[in-house]
Amino acid sequence: MLDTLDPADPSFARDPYPYYAHLRTTGPAARVALANGTDAWLVTGYRQAREVLADPRFSNVPPRAAGRPKPDSPAQRARGCLARHMLNTDAPDHTRLRRLTTAAFTPRRVDALRPRIEQLTAELVTDVAARLAREGTADLVDAFAFPLPVLVIGEVLGVPTADRADLRTWTYQVGSPADALPAGAVDRAWTSLHGYFTALIARKRRAPGDDLFSALVHDEAEGGLDDGELLAMAFLLLFAGYETTMNLLASASLLLLTHPAELAAARQGGPARWAAVAEEALRHASPLEGTTWRRTTEEVDLGDGVVLPADASVLVVLAAANRDPGVFPEPDAFRPGRYASSGERATERAAERAAPHAAFGHGPHFCLGSRLARLEAEVALPMLFGEGGRMPAFTLAADPATLPYRPGLLVRGPRHLPVVSAGSSG
Ligand code: HEM
Repeated sequence: MLDTLDPADPSFARDPYPYYAHLRTTGPAARVALANGTDAWLVTGYRQAREVLADPRFSNVPPRAAGRPKPDSPAQRARGCLARHMLNTDAPDHTRLRRLTTAAFTPRRVDALRPRIEQLTAELVTDVAARLAREGTADLVDAFAFPLPVLVIGEVLGVPTADRADLRTWTYQVGSPADALPAGAVDRAWTSLHGYFTALIARKRRAPGDDLFSALVHDEAEGGLDDGELLAMAFLLLFAGYETTMNLLASASLLLLTHPAELAAARQGGPARWAAVAEEALRHASPLEGTTWRRTTEEVDLGDGVVLPADASVLVVLAAANRDPGVFPEPDAFRPGRYASSGERATERAAERAAPHAAFGHGPHFCLGSRLARLEAEVALPMLFGEGGRMPAFTLAADPATLPYRPGLLVRGPRHLPVVSAGSSG
């Protein structure tokens, strides 16, 4: 009998960890029946997760959609553009796209974004503080964790300040369930984003800016990216970058609000300790719960008695790999000390620095935005939680066990994070 899994179940979405721990007892990868009638192999072991992600026998190219009607509405065409992005390709196509993109995403260019990220964060923190003073309550997801990554992607793409509000609205709408908005709103948002990015690329071809995306538009090496590839890249940067980073900021905030001793240690520890908080939040609350789907191109023996057949659907569950007890002692505990720098480590229970987490993936598709995501967290968390800053003292205004999470196996993080000024009854 196969284990069954319903990713839409709200209690699974909130806390999938007991299920993954159970699956792990059956082996480092297990075949499960999904509620939609298909079945898939879920990889939960840390070592096996990294092996799969580095192994060319696992393909990222989605299977041909036999019999699926051709996209015929503007919204479907807009969504179709996403299918051409590099996460959906294997070598050699992927190698070429990745080389061109890496050439634009240099550490120097990413680090140069710090002052702008600090400024955008300061503006949002001021807004949250004003809301708390005015209303006594604020939602850290709506008011902080969601807008910051979208604004930062706006910087990466070189979207003019006047257009940022539109970008934020469309991003919010395409990420919303269709029945949460008036009829047609989600489709209109897709079409607007498509039209906007098409015009943006044309503008950047005529007049490049000093943003990262302009560097991609004007990279002439190997012929550069064509307009279709650039459009897919703009969509990919937006979607790979915003919801993941939003989840990191929201989950790290929730962990700090529920672990006051760790919050106090971060406040005393300075930048290195905030960086350790971000690392441990990435491990403990992996913002991308599973990678994108892969398919075996031939039979693969993963060891430990696990043999995946050819043409099997495979999901590497990063959230499970990051809590593999064979690699991370006390995996369910939130202990930033695991990633503390060597100077701090003497005071920590963990004598050794922990293994690198797998939250950014591994192998050829390793996250292109990891440096940017870390930079955002290392700027945002101390500004939101640091003492003596713009924020008044605040506390969580909900039972963590009842917070809603987005259903599904791909991304994971609280959808709302209500806080109240400290001392208020909420
Ligand atoms: C906390 C935030 C983030 C997390 C946890 C994360 C995680 C990941 C993971 C696990 C992958 C590999 C997926 C797979 O192998 O199927 C990936 C790929 C990717 N990420 Fe991120 N990501 C984050 C933020 C960002 C940001 C800010 C950007 C860019 C603005 C970005 C751009 C990309 C791109 C372009 C890829 C595809 C790389 C390729 O196919 O070669 N990510 N990300």
